Amino acid sequence: RQQKLADLFTSATVIPVLTIERLEDAVPLARALVAGGVRVLEVTLRTPVAIEAAKAMIAEVPDAIVGIGTILNADDLARAKALGAKFGISPGGTPELLKAAAAGDLPFAPGIATASELMQALAHGLDIVKFFPAEQSGGIKALRALAGPFPNIRVCPTGGVGEANAASWLAEPNVLAVGGSWLCPPADIRSGNWAGISAMCARAMKLLKP
Ligand code: 3PG
Repeated sequence: RQQKLADLFTSATVIPVLTIERLEDAVPLARALVAGGVRVLEVTLRTPVAIEAAKAMIAEVPDAIVGIGTILNADDLARAKALGAKFGISPGGTPELLKAAAAGDLPFAPGIATASELMQALAHGLDIVKFFPAEQSGGIKALRALAGPFPNIRVCPTGGVGEANAASWLAEPNVLAVGGSWLCPPADIRSGNWAGISAMCARAMKLLKP
């Protein structure tokens, strides 16, 4: 399972963090991202329609690889698994959630920002983590410091990552992919600027995964 997650993150390079307010935006948004070369999508459980939105993307956009983000507890994890998500991501990790994730088979990245949180994740065999909030927690310097005692971790930094700094993060040897909301600005989703989102994705992919 860890291998699956590593392959998924590596192939993604960039994982857009999606907050979908209106169900009808889900499919056109996923199509726009895929058209721009961004296939691995994190649908966050931050809105009432998130679950239905993820289901619609899975059903109607076969080229999208849909995961669920903002998984806060074992129930959320079970919901992600049940709807057919390919992976799960959390901003953190409670003992309950880490235990459930370790017992299940859904590829799962808990969130960590400190050595102790990382140790909790590693104690459950979860060595691929979301470094969150990445920039605000000290950025690349903090990640390098954590890699001293924990050389084998692999991370997806998220939080404050954008077009200007994504390449620097990806140059770190333990960074598999970066996550962020910058590829899907709420205003573009609201106005249905799908072509704009596709163009932004294509530009980012050209820059980050030439
Ligand atoms: C997340 O939940 O991963 C963050 O909200 C994304 O952070 P960003 O908005 O700074 O990209």
